[in-house]
Amino acid sequence: MPVELPDLPYARDALHPHLSAETVALHHDGHQRRCVEAVNTLATGTDLEASPLEDIVRNSQGALFEAAAQAWNHAFYWQCLHPRAGGEPHGRLAERIAQQFGDTARLREEFNHAAMAVFGSGWAWLVQHPDGRLAIVATRNAATPLTGDSTPLLACNLWEHAYYTDYQNDRARYLQAFWKLVNWDFVSARLR
Ligand SMILES: [Fe+2]
Repeated sequence: MPVELPDLPYARDALHPHLSAETVALHHDGHQRRCVEAVNTLATGTDLEASPLEDIVRNSQGALFEAAAQAWNHAFYWQCLHPRAGGEPHGRLAERIAQQFGDTARLREEFNHAAMAVFGSGWAWLVQHPDGRLAIVATRNAATPLTGDSTPLLACNLWEHAYYTDYQNDRARYLQAFWKLVNWDFVSARLR
């Protein structure tokens, strides 16, 4: 069965004013769709042809890996955002953040620092290691924590197409907007 482009979990204009409908449409209907189409083209005739997207990411290399990882990363990114979100995490996630980072402001600061340090394109992530500890990691280009042992909890897309229309090359302003959209309920639900 071909990999499908998942619908956005909200309307294209729902993230306004933090991300415009134009950015969301370009990003989902353009970039993400092309990744999904590339996965289906490149997987055809291979052992992974009938595999779910996560399995393709974990078991492919080269151009197929890049397309599959980007397709997965994008679908995950949209789930990390929500129009009625932002604010602060609650419950077990908040406790764990407090234990490890002091507070959420400090987590945001460290995440932003890692995100700003990515030269060129990539992603910033909050992950949970197998021992339960949280960590902030950055990946280059299409690379994704999905291929490692840690569970991705939160992702921020740092490719310029994620923010250029709204913020030009000002990644710091995009990060401010990103935090106003973070769906902490989704992040909490991923915590083990
Ligand atoms: Fe993207």
